[in-house]
Amino acid sequence: TNKYKFETILVNIIDDSIALVTFNRPKALNSFNYQMGKELLDCCRLLDKDDNVKCIVLTGSGTKSFACGADIKEMANHDMAYMMKKGHLIDNLCDLREIEKPIIAAVNGYALGGGCEVAMICDIIVAGENAVFGQPETKIGTIPGAGGSQRLIRAVGKSKAMEMILTGNPIDAQQALQFGLVSCVVPIDKTIETALKMAKQIASLSPIIIKLAKVTVNNAQESNLTEGLNIERRIFHSTFALKDRSEGMNSFANKRKPNWTNN
Ligand code: CAA
Repeated sequence: TNKYKFETILVNIIDDSIALVTFNRPKALNSFNYQMGKELLDCCRLLDKDDNVKCIVLTGSGTKSFACGADIKEMANHDMAYMMKKGHLIDNLCDLREIEKPIIAAVNGYALGGGCEVAMICDIIVAGENAVFGQPETKIGTIPGAGGSQRLIRAVGKSKAMEMILTGNPIDAQQALQFGLVSCVVPIDKTIETALKMAKQIASLSPIIIKLAKVTVNNAQESNLTEGLNIERRIFHSTFALKDRSEGMNSFANKRKPNWTNN
């Protein structure tokens, strides 16, 4: 039985180890209303605690849109005091960065505004050929609010990020690949399949090691090189306190499959 029941997102557990989470507001091109943002965060937090789940894949229902950003109609009449409160929509999207398990975005169609930002919070982005990435907030009188101004520049460099944010013009999948925003571009009907294949590979490894790898790589965006190298060194050393590190190396030396215990 599926214990992950929500109204605006669908959750499928695949091979007992991968959670495929689908944004399901197709009539609004999967834009995030408050409920969808809350359900997404709640769901990912539950999945993060579920020992069976090793990897999360996020995608949009249909192929026209991954997610079209915040629900503009819902947001239109909010005031500053409301937006500054903890736990509103954008705040919930930002908090996805706290999820410790790997998250892969399988993006077909529009990833705009908060949709692009959620994709960038993910660890890997797999793009379908029709994917479109953009931060069009300036066109509706605001600026990116869920990390877009910070993560986009780190992904594509200053000039392209500035062009995208100041003009509001999106880029297509090939440009996103060229600029390093996405990890690969695949035919539209292979996007989810490709993401699930990556997820399966990750799920076959030691979860505790994967968790350390994710935190170490993410740290690179938040520190200078010397500090990042020092942290990598410490975390690398700390893997030698884990049984799964010993199991990985000894199974290789003894030509057998590793038996990960998440210890
Ligand atoms: N919020 C609310 N509704 C949205 C939406 C959004 N972000 N994006 C699309 N929709 C709705 C449309 O209003 C429309 O609804 P109705 O049928 O009731 O009119 C439905 O989805 C279908 O959309 P369109 O008719 O517009 O479809 P299209 O193919 O003509 O255009 C589009 C597609 C170019 C993506 C266009 O929908 C669009 O520009 N959407 C807005 C994208 C955007 O600006 N996103 C940023 C939001 S702000 C944000 O995210 C803040 C942040 O930093 C976190």
